[in-house]
Formats: sequence, C-alpha cells, structure tokens
Amino acid sequence: MTVNGEAVTVATPPHYTLLEVLRYKLDLIGSKQGCDKGDCGACTVQLDGTPVLACLTLAAVAQGRAVTTVEGLGLAAGGVHPLQDAFDRHDAAQCGFCTPGILMSAEALVRDRPPGAGPVSRDEVREALAGNLCRCTGYTKIIDAVVDASARMQATAAGGRE
Ligand code: FES
Ligand code: FES
Repeated sequence: MTVNGEAVTVATPPHYTLLEVLRYKLDLIGSKQGCDKGDCGACTVQLDGTPVLACLTLAAVAQGRAVTTVEGLGLAAGGVHPLQDAFDRHDAAQCGFCTPGILMSAEALVRDRPPGAGPVSRDEVREALAGNLCRCTGYTKIIDAVVDASARMQATAAGGRE
C-alpha cells in the first residue's frame, strides 16, 4: 500500500487491523485507538480518499491502495492544511484525542466541495462528523473551524486572497 504517498510493505498477521499496522508497525500514532469497536471515530483515516474507521478495517483490505493519515494531511499544503490552521485559530481542540479522526473526516468534506459552491454549511459539517465523538469541545468550535477552512479553500480556489 501507499501511506501518505510513500510505498510501504508490511508483513502482518491476517487478523491485524489497519489501525494496528499504522500505529504498531509503522509508528504512525496520530490515528488514535479509542473504543476499538467503531463507536468513536478517533481512528478515522482515509482509504483512497474516503474516510474509514481503521479499527474496523482489516489491514489486508488496504493492500495496493492509498492510505492517508493525519500525519499526511498537510503534505500537499506545504506542512499545514487549512483545516489544521483553522482548528488552531478557533481553539477547536482541547485534549486533542478526537482531533486526528475529525480532521480526516472533515478533509473529505471540504476537499470534495466543488469550486464556486461556497463554504460547507454547518449542517453538512454535522453530518460529515456524525461518527466522530468529542468529549471536550461541545462541537461548536469544531464546526466553526471546518466552515472557516472551507471558506478559505473556496476563496483560494477562486483566486481570492485568504
Ligand atoms: S477506535 Fe475506531 S471507532 Fe473508536
Ligand atoms: S478535544 Fe478532547 S475529545 Fe475532542
């Protein structure tokens, strides 16, 4: 598979999940092991650009495919993705345990927004993040940050100033 754009080969027992391979064989510990049963979303990564729960995804499913984790989120943006910048400016992370998963779910939402469509709505953010639990923030600042990042990305796509 490729992980954050780099080809990797991993020998793993057939029952290992993608989350276990990422955290314990590749030392990519940004993706969090929370509930480990599909309830919290802290383990969310992208498989071929689509958010998936890495704790419920067998590693073998990722064979030959592209995996993106929070560690790779800013790579195409020169180190800091607009979402990460917005989370910082809006204080959208407290303990931060949920943040990697939320960023990976949110990135798919803002990336897939057609240029000229305007920023995502608060309801669209709520729907996209419905599987990501946060015990600290009350979600308001997270939604603020995602809408802000989407607006900035739309402005950039339109050639405007950020
Ligand atoms: S650790 Fe995967 S959903 Fe909670
Ligand atoms: S910031 Fe603590 S769980 Fe979300």
